[in-house]
Amino acid sequence: MLPTPDLSHLTSQDYRNVYEPSEDTFLLLDSLEEDQEYIKQLKPKICLEIGSGSGCVITFLGQIVGKNSVYITTDINPEAAKITQKTGKQNNIKIDAINTDLVNGILPRLENSIDIICFNPPYVITESSDINSSLIAASWAGGIKGREVTDRVLPYIPKLLAPGGSFYLLLIQDNKPQEIVEIMESYNLKYQLIKKRKAGIEQQFVLKFTKPL
Ligand SMILES: C[S@@+](CC[C@H](N)C(=O)[O-])C[C@H]1O[C@@H](n2cnc3c(N)ncnc32)[C@H](O)[C@@H]1O
Repeated sequence: MLPTPDLSHLTSQDYRNVYEPSEDTFLLLDSLEEDQEYIKQLKPKICLEIGSGSGCVITFLGQIVGKNSVYITTDINPEAAKITQKTGKQNNIKIDAINTDLVNGILPRLENSIDIICFNPPYVITESSDINSSLIAASWAGGIKGREVTDRVLPYIPKLLAPGGSFYLLLIQDNKPQEIVEIMESYNLKYQLIKKRKAGIEQQFVLKFTKPL
């Protein structure tokens, strides 16, 4: 079992503004671990995490892939970008943490060149006005169907992925994962369910979408 990244540099004060790793984070980590042989044989040159929060997921991915990849993260929350950078440092993974909306600034520079993309989005059903109503609300408030943030990024995924590259996406049942599968298949991406788990009343899923070679 791979160790969870060292987050001992983060305090309860940090978690007032930045998402603290939770069941969803750990389901994504477990999914990457389960898929690690596939990930390693891809020999990723560029990995991206959208919405990195504490930086736990990209750091874990860095522990699987190793030093020969570039690690980029985005987060709309400037505190999350700072903390992600610190988490990388704490665990000897060099991360380029960008404070931006979704993949703004990544395209067109990195078109067709990212091997692994991860996203644990704000997925809770809320009023649309709750989205980004505070730094911490941005981590969970997902608007209609809990999908407003996720849906905005989907069309960029096939443009960003390198041929053979994969996108790991965490969703809950309320997000209607089957609709997302249909959207991604319409972009010619191949779908696989990696893991599902119940966390309290939430049924969580990690879906993988792969771009053909
Ligand atoms: C559920 S948290 C996940 C954090 C971390 N990846 C994890 O798994 O613990 C969602 C993250 O997405 C970020 N986020 C929300 N909207 C975003 C947007 N439009 N662009 C970039 N990041 C966003 C939030 O600030 C938050 O850090």
